[in-house]
Amino acid sequence: MKALIIYFSLHHGNTEKIARAIAETLKAELKTPDEVTPQELLQYDLLGFGSGIFFGKHHRKIVDFIQKLPQVQGKNALVFSTSGMGRKSFNQHLSKLLEEKGFNVVGSFACRGYDTYGPLKLIGGINRGRPNQKDLEEAKKFAREVAEKIKSS
Ligand SMILES: Cc1cc2nc3c(=O)[nH]c(=O)nc-3n(C[C@H](O)[C@H](O)[C@H](O)COP(=O)(O)O)c2cc1C
Repeated sequence: MKALIIYFSLHHGNTEKIARAIAETLKAELKTPDEVTPQELLQYDLLGFGSGIFFGKHHRKIVDFIQKLPQVQGKNALVFSTSGMGRKSFNQHLSKLLEEKGFNVVGSFACRGYDTYGPLKLIGGINRGRPNQKDLEEAKKFAREVAEKIKSS
């Protein structure tokens, strides 16, 4: 299975850690939106999309990239994010966009990430050290489960 993980990690490199863990498990290539053209995506069986969460949504770089993609037919996708709250529900917006493009969203992963936005900086931020080793293990487990799901479908 040929997989590509597309990520954007701006605030503290939190999402890049998760992107690398998922990519390593899936033996996937890893790129940012600026390093890949929509046309190149067609050669992959699975595409992953992730970033930090900014005001409740994935970073504009990822959202804009997906919005510019051509319509596909049932191509497998996974979504992931890191955020202050660590909520998986933050991924719903991106999953919906992908489904509207014709993707089959086979998995969603979220965890907490170090956050020093605004006044949080004054208290040294929240979630220091996250994603941690346990988060990375969870991300790898998630990637293995996605691979299994695709294999058995
Ligand atoms: C401008 C800004 C807005 C943010 N908005 C949210 C938010 O709405 N909800 C949340 O849980 N975390 C929020 N965060 C925290 C980030 O999502 C979190 O630190 C994330 O792990 C950053 O990922 P990155 O280091 O890969 O960019 C925000 C951070 C910044 C800098």
